[in-house]
Amino acid sequence: MSMKAVVIYEAGPPSVLKVESRPIPTPAEDEVLIRVKAFGLNRSEMFTRQGHSPNVPFPRVLGIEAVGIVEKCPSGKFKPGDKVASAMGGMGRDFDGGYAEYTSPKAKNTQLIETNLDWSVIGAVPEMLQTSYGSLFKALKLQPTDRLLVRGGTTSVGLAAAAIAKNYGCFVAGTTRQSSQATADLMHKSGIEQIIIDDGNVAEKVKDKKFDKLLELVGTTTLRDSLKCVVGGGIVCMTGIVGNSWALKDFSPMGDIPHTVCLTDYDGGPQEFMETPLNDLLKQVEAGTLPVGIGKIFHIDQIVEAHETQEKNLARGKIVVLTE
Ligand SMILES: NC(=O)c1ccc[n+]([C@@H]2O[C@H](COP(=O)([O-])OP(=O)(O)OC[C@H]3O[C@@H](n4cnc5c(N)ncnc54)[C@H](OP(=O)(O)O)[C@@H]3O)[C@@H](O)[C@H]2O)c1
Repeated sequence: MSMKAVVIYEAGPPSVLKVESRPIPTPAEDEVLIRVKAFGLNRSEMFTRQGHSPNVPFPRVLGIEAVGIVEKCPSGKFKPGDKVASAMGGMGRDFDGGYAEYTSPKAKNTQLIETNLDWSVIGAVPEMLQTSYGSLFKALKLQPTDRLLVRGGTTSVGLAAAAIAKNYGCFVAGTTRQSSQATADLMHKSGIEQIIIDDGNVAEKVKDKKFDKLLELVGTTTLRDSLKCVVGGGIVCMTGIVGNSWALKDFSPMGDIPHTVCLTDYDGGPQEFMETPLNDLLKQVEAGTLPVGIGKIFHIDQIVEAHETQEKNLARGKIVVLTE
């Protein structure tokens, strides 16, 4: 009745993550016990591991998402054998999460999955697609005629957003700091037609043909410049902070936001996850029209290496961890 789980006792480098044997959780009436097949790595888990989440008590099994097979569901919402995906709602933060062979999140934060795709692909998508889909359609109110710029076009969220937007009919551009052919190939594969090398001054490069919508994934380090990349009436959505700077110093709304440009943000929670049409999107993945940018795949025993890869930005896409 024991399982393998990744436990963190103290903040620190990737080596603080310990693979241990723990009892398999017993699901409460409103929970579902999932035999985890795969889980994606998220930057929020990296921040927690680094000590930037004071509200997350240690020891903790990290992991804000997981996919797998239902073992038990006391409420009957799912039956044993169902394929499911669960994310957020306190997972890996308020209670033990997905970095384990079993996890027991709330059934109400869990979606039934109908696909025969590989677990490595299914494991990549819940949080990644929730974030990209929600940013595009809830925050940016994307229209098929929009010209979209993804700032941080090689992030896993950015690549997914680009592919979804391109399928929707949009013209999609993306930024990267890398000028390699491999990076260009990766971005083109996800539907990014125009690649802009990000030297911090993208607005100057696009001033003759601005964008209707901009998905900001680099964060406050580029936001002022991003606001100048969109047309009047256009929308900029702050979704990610890979630039690792959380606040804008001396923000002057009248000076920094160009006339009539709209600034919003997206921070998806459990409700947004449940509203994400995962099965529709997985059908697009199956059809080959929505490429899933998997960067690297690890086994749960390699969790330290997986976090090192994430911290050094070496994955070039989503990092997925398999339990078998
Ligand atoms: N709001 C939400 O609901 C939500 C949910 C999930 C994730 N997120 C956020 O979305 C963002 C993307 O997450 P992800 O997992 O997709 O990222 P990721 O795949 O780990 O992103 C890696 C890429 O980020 C770029 N990058 C790294 N450090 C950078 C820096 N200092 N300046 C500029 N670019 C840098 C690099 O691109 P290049 O080297 O090609 O430039 C690298 O390839 C994160 O900030 C994450 O926290 C938000």
